[in-house]
Amino acid sequence: MPAIEIIRSLTEMTNWSARHRRKGNSISFVPTMGFLHEGHLSLMKEGKRQADKLVISIFVNPTQFGPGEDFDSYPSDLDRDFKLAEDIGADVVFTPTKADFYPQGFDTFINQEKLPNHLCGLSRAGHFQGVMTIVAKLFNVVNPDIAVFGEKDFQQLAIIRRMVKDLNFNIRIIGHPTVRETDGLARSSRNSKLTSDQRITALSLFASLEKAQNTLKSEETSAAVLIGNAADFISSHPGTEIDYIKICDPDTLDDVTIIDRPVVMAMAVKVGTTRLIDNMILNPDK
Ligand code: PAF
Repeated sequence: MPAIEIIRSLTEMTNWSARHRRKGNSISFVPTMGFLHEGHLSLMKEGKRQADKLVISIFVNPTQFGPGEDFDSYPSDLDRDFKLAEDIGADVVFTPTKADFYPQGFDTFINQEKLPNHLCGLSRAGHFQGVMTIVAKLFNVVNPDIAVFGEKDFQQLAIIRRMVKDLNFNIRIIGHPTVRETDGLARSSRNSKLTSDQRITALSLFASLEKAQNTLKSEETSAAVLIGNAADFISSHPGTEIDYIKICDPDTLDDVTIIDRPVVMAMAVKVGTTRLIDNMILNPDK
């Protein structure tokens, strides 16, 4: 197995991609904030399947965290990440520095008018502006053919797809299904912050999504009823604080009232101080 390359410099990264493109290699890209887990590894395996070379980035992006969010305590273990990426067969781990990516005087951000004004965007002001800006910068530096994002961050994926279309990035975006623990908990770097009791409580998110799909199957098509059921169920677990539970159109993220087609049910819930998100496509024909 060839040793993985760790690249920190922006220029070196761009040159690496140019070199491989000249050789006729296609490049896939998985951007991450590190502390890799099975979910990331599954995105990377998909990336490897889709192209000749796989680049992953590890950068905890300050501009997507608001005041009081967990930027300073975001979990990190770079040595472990390098090893995991190497075992998966990634070719490069790109770990730019904050000073290189956001030098003194940095003043340009990407905005979107509609999609960020839903779900997580309502309680995390500026979050998606930070995400779009860093993803666009990463795309420009890495210059991949393909980029793989998890469906767990459903709104992020929708926003990136829109941005790629609107700004004419010549990159194919692949959405990859959420990877779950055997008991259903969606994999997330933030799960490492849960105590064992909180981890059990956190299962209420996935359980409430499954219950919603089952209730829909029994011909209850009112979004308000399904949302109410989920809110009651999650709130019955101690230490939970619901940020939102929504049922919306998967493309526009606009609220849906009657479920007569596939829709997305999405939620953000604080378990203790850890904010978790999850979602599921609800399908009346399933
Ligand atoms: O999904 C994430 O981990 C981040 O939002 C991303 C896409 C790496 C941008 O910082």
